[in-house]
Amino acid sequence: MQIRILEDSDGLGRSAAEAVAKELKAKPRSILLLPTGSTPLDMYRHLIDIHAQEQVSFSQATFFNLDEYLGLFSEHPASYRRYMEENFYCCVDTDLDRVYVPNGNAPDPAVECERYEEAIKGAGGIDLCVLGIGRNGHIGFNEPGASFDSRTRVVRLTESTRRVNAEDFEGDRAPEKAITVGMGTILGSKKILLLASGENKATAVARVVEGPITEEVPASVLQRHSNFTLLLDQEAASSLCKENL
Ligand code: GLP
Repeated sequence: MQIRILEDSDGLGRSAAEAVAKELKAKPRSILLLPTGSTPLDMYRHLIDIHAQEQVSFSQATFFNLDEYLGLFSEHPASYRRYMEENFYCCVDTDLDRVYVPNGNAPDPAVECERYEEAIKGAGGIDLCVLGIGRNGHIGFNEPGASFDSRTRVVRLTESTRRVNAEDFEGDRAPEKAITVGMGTILGSKKILLLASGENKATAVARVVEGPITEEVPASVLQRHSNFTLLLDQEAASSLCKENL
């Protein structure tokens, strides 16, 4: 595991964008697995800038999203498809035939999950996976207790995640369920980059770096991955032991 600590969330976003751009320059046909949430917004902004300066093209790469709420039509303002279109795909040269987001409104969600997992396998597996992290250590929507060998599936969200994510919805809770790429699928990625920003992620980050590997903290298993980098801002790193700084 490598840990890099950046000054603030903008520095974190720039550093993450540079890592993605480096991957695409080395392998234009890369297969990427990408996150949503507030943390990666700076990364997408910097990637758009890097693209505008004609330093990288996304046209040959394939993009998968980590997750999507169940029961949302794709144009819903809080859907992750819409997030990706508005914050990233709108402004770069991705080939939309190679952009995948789980369909949260599929008539048969189980079939949609199988189709999604097969599409990842068919593409040749993930070269670079970029993750955010939930306050309870979730990655994608793999909540505490998710099996480390799980695959893309429908999951029930915890009350705490539904409350934290409620701000994107009119009610006081996010939807009850979501489709998420599984832990086993994430762990099969060749490289993994986890981004964490802000003090409210400090405890989860300390558990990932210093805690035992347990399904109760899904991201803790990333310690075992042979090419895992944590990009943190100073606040997210604030609970780490000195020897890990
Ligand atoms: C959601 C997403 C996760 C994301 C997490 C943290 O639950 N499913 O993939 O990592 O939010 O989001 P934020 O960066 O807004 O704290």
